[in-house]
Amino acid sequence: VILSQDELKKIAAYKAVEYVESGMVIGLGTGSTAKHAVDRIGELLRQDLDTYPVVDLAIDGADEVDPFLNLVKGRGGSLLREKMIESACKKFIVIVDESKMVKYLGGSGLAMPVEVIPFCWKFSAERLRKLFEYAGCVAKLRTFPENGEPFVTDNGNYIVDLYFKKDIGDLNAASDAILRLPGIVEHGMFLDMATTLIVAGELGVTIKNK
Ligand code: A5P
Repeated sequence: VILSQDELKKIAAYKAVEYVESGMVIGLGTGSTAKHAVDRIGELLRQDLDTYPVVDLAIDGADEVDPFLNLVKGRGGSLLREKMIESACKKFIVIVDESKMVKYLGGSGLAMPVEVIPFCWKFSAERLRKLFEYAGCVAKLRTFPENGEPFVTDNGNYIVDLYFKKDIGDLNAASDAILRLPGIVEHGMFLDMATTLIVAGELGVTIKNK
């Protein structure tokens, strides 16, 4: 039996929900993989971060995962709120199908999203591109294909998608350099945050702990 990608996502998500215990405060992410976990847990376990500043467990999907459990997130448009919750939780389980595994972040050739303030976004995009010129970076404003209008995040910002031709190297240095640029709100690299990775593949489920 060949499982579809969505079936693999569901398998990883259901495995993650086995970590949920009664009374826990859970952080729930977005995306087609995390949706399966949300469906599984149900509305009863949803809590408000304002009321419960310590989240016991967050479960979320990712766009890329490297061998050290560093992630790229935000291709679906959410990254800042997810990062706020997932950096504050005690345990963060990442659920993916095997297509998300990469040798290095940016290695899929797909976007690494950066959330930017709309004011002077072209200037910010150019500064980002220059920062990673050594890796053949191309920076593009995310727009809706139907009308060319900018995609606006849940915080009212724009997203500049970075595409790399080569490995960008030291991820912490890259993160610091991005965040030092004025006008940048957050980037989609989630470094040293995931505590458990659940990967569903054709040959079964793999669980890796940090
Ligand atoms: C949302 O912007 C992202 O961070 C998602 O977690 C990520 O895109 C994974 O989504 P899928 O599970 O739908 O691939």
